[in-house]
Amino acid sequence: MTDQGETEGSRAALAKAVHRLTGSEPICLDARDFTPSGPGRAEIVADRLVLEADGVRVVNPAAVVVYEIPPAGRPALEPLQDVLARSGVPCLGTGAGAWRTASDKEAMVKAFAAAGVAQMPSLCLPPDAGEAAALDAFTELGGDVWARPVSGMGGQDVFHVTDEALLRQAARRYAAEGQRWLLTSDARNFNPDGLRHQYRVVVLQGRVIWVAEHIQPDSDAPCNVAQGATSTPLAPDALPGHLHELAAAAAEAVGLPYAGLDLAAESGGVVFEINVHPAFGAPGALEGLAVPYVQAHLDQTAAASAA
Ligand SMILES: Nc1ncnc2c1ncn2[C@@H]1O[C@H](COP(=O)(O)OP(=O)(O)O)[C@@H](O)[C@H]1O
Ligand SMILES: [Mg+2]
Repeated sequence: MTDQGETEGSRAALAKAVHRLTGSEPICLDARDFTPSGPGRAEIVADRLVLEADGVRVVNPAAVVVYEIPPAGRPALEPLQDVLARSGVPCLGTGAGAWRTASDKEAMVKAFAAAGVAQMPSLCLPPDAGEAAALDAFTELGGDVWARPVSGMGGQDVFHVTDEALLRQAARRYAAEGQRWLLTSDARNFNPDGLRHQYRVVVLQGRVIWVAEHIQPDSDAPCNVAQGATSTPLAPDALPGHLHELAAAAAEAVGLPYAGLDLAAESGGVVFEINVHPAFGAPGALEGLAVPYVQAHLDQTAAASAA
């Protein structure tokens, strides 16, 4: 089940993974049908999960895979997540609270702080933060900071702020969008060549299964591929050891059994961000991400039928 309005391509990779692992085609449903105002129905009838939409009726599926749900579409799926959780059908996407925490960077920063997960110091500001409040936060964080909207992706509206003029520009942008925003001290994540770099890591059930190094030639731009960074897949054991533990702890702090994390090795090792559904766009993502993610569902199905 995915948001079929999305075009990132993760659902095609998942469908291939299901076929490869089971020999069967998955039944593909549009998650948008299962919002409270949508035409779909998700119910438990006589102890069996029933999903029905668009002329398709699924009774007691072996597993439900929920993916490619953009942040804005998540709140409306909470009733569905509740039904999926109560049904007992294997699904790694039933944690509505975890999705909420991961979809709001202020909540995320608080969850990391509560669990002792290493991150750079942050302060959160309201959309209409006055100039004095913004300047106080900027100064308190050392005058070399990153500004991020609490809800965003792809490095959009993320700015490296090193002076008051840039701070005012960023503040105006978030005010215009009515967004709360974070200021976070710079992690000084430069490689030996002086280029910004960081890792995109995917954790599945406490284990790092995917690592890519991102390098950004513009030191004032976010290390997102969408903002011009290059991404090179690495073997998981190429990730510095302390980042394995950090990534697993960050996923656990938010309550996600599966998560994509942005991490820097510098400043002692820090987490920038957690993602609920990291895109399967990179070469090798079918084998490296989609297959193990679907396999984790099938393992739960096997464990349930053995019990
Ligand atoms: N404190 C920081 N120090 C260095 N770079 C940062 C910092 N905060 C954010 N960035 C850069 O901005 C990117 C985008 O921020 P992130 O929280 O990952 O939001 P998005 O959801 O837009 O990807 C980060 O992955 C990182 O490259
Ligand atoms: Mg990110």
